[in-house]
Amino acid sequence: MANVRLDGVYKIYPDGTRAVDDLSLDIAEGELLVLVGPSGCGKTTALRMVAGLEEISRGTVAIGERTVNRVSARDRDVAMVFQSYALYPHLSVRDNIAFGLQLRSMPKAEIAERVAKAAATLGLTDHLDRKPRNLSGGQRQRVAMGRAIVRNPQAFLMDEPLSNLDAKLRVQMRAEISRIQRDLGVTTVYVTHDQVEAMTLGDRVAVMKKGVLQQVAPPQELYERPVNLFVAGFIGSPAMNLLQGRLEGDGDGAVLHLGDQALGVPHALLDERPALRGYLGRDIAVGIRPEDMEDADLEGAGGASGGAAVLASTADLVEALGAELLVHFVLSAPPVVTDDTRELARDAGADEGEVPGEGTVIAKFSPRSRVAEGAPVRIRVDTGRLYFFDPESGAGIWGEPGDADPREVGDD
Ligand SMILES: Nc1ncnc2c1ncn2[C@@H]1O[C@H](COP(=O)(O)OP(=O)(O)OP(=O)(O)O)[C@@H](O)[C@H]1O
Ligand SMILES: [Mg+2]
Repeated sequence: MANVRLDGVYKIYPDGTRAVDDLSLDIAEGELLVLVGPSGCGKTTALRMVAGLEEISRGTVAIGERTVNRVSARDRDVAMVFQSYALYPHLSVRDNIAFGLQLRSMPKAEIAERVAKAAATLGLTDHLDRKPRNLSGGQRQRVAMGRAIVRNPQAFLMDEPLSNLDAKLRVQMRAEISRIQRDLGVTTVYVTHDQVEAMTLGDRVAVMKKGVLQQVAPPQELYERPVNLFVAGFIGSPAMNLLQGRLEGDGDGAVLHLGDQALGVPHALLDERPALRGYLGRDIAVGIRPEDMEDADLEGAGGASGGAAVLASTADLVEALGAELLVHFVLSAPPVVTDDTRELARDAGADEGEVPGEGTVIAKFSPRSRVAEGAPVRIRVDTGRLYFFDPESGAGIWGEPGDADPREVGDD
């Protein structure tokens, strides 16, 4: 086992595509780091450079003490697990798992021992003599994992290993990968474009956009303190609502205007984030998470953070999901349009150039709510949990004035 370190790594493909742009990451021994981001942001490229399957244009990759830029994939002592598990159809599960070891001409007894141990870890002991075609998708994925495990590598590199499985199996295998990785304590880099997978699996999560690392932090920190609009909108489901607002001074405090409505901003929040005072009298980008809103007509719908204020609108759409209601409504505040939000819209499947409609907001209500489609709705906002961003740069406004540059906190 070893740590894996990327230092100022670039990948510029021969056609000029800058797939990875100055990526620095230090993955600790035994850590599971998830690389997440929209399609095409450079995740696979980054992983393949660590694996030795792609030449590094600039910068260094080190595994343990050793810089591996010039070391062949074979000699890097890392095991890769891909989305397509590419098992040999004519070989048994046992031989599929043992394949890499046999290639290395390891003694038979040791191979048998390692395969038995991996099979036990993966719950494959009873299936060792079967052929891949007689396995379920999840079992096949486990065989692919087995091939990686038996090698006792310094690190696992996984590229969307669960994306071929159905939703239920993914959740199950996700838990399993988490357990196995913890049991074995092997340093792991796990690539996915699924932010839920990233949040549930990662000790830390690195969010990338267009080849550039945006933020790397434990999941809860990404959720609570996103460095910019991109991370804010990418982490969380349903996504954070992003609106253009205006912050006005009000005595010692502040009022946030969202179109023709207003929310009081709690004092505590202004004290906590003094940089906000620099935005008084100016436009500001505001983020409200769906889960920080509730039906104001419900008993006990107060904000958990101590601040609460009410918006009024009409429920355009109510999606009843059983445990919660997703209530769509419109505020007369414009959407935030920056490079970050354009990239988020693209990732969400919007057409090129399409911008989100005026102030569409989604709130997560308790199923006890009696909100009805087409009827007026009053939404209580937990104002202590509002997010603010610079409307031009998209940087999160957190600390002292002037320290809102996301690039400065992009790596830790
Ligand atoms: N061989 C190549 N030559 C030129 N450009 C490439 C090559 N391989 C990948 N790219 C480009 O590099 C960028 C990053 O690709 P990469 O496959 O690393 O993205 P990704 O984050 O893994 O995406 P996905 O989630 O779709 O797998 C993309 O713009 C892609 O088109
Ligand atoms: Mg990929």
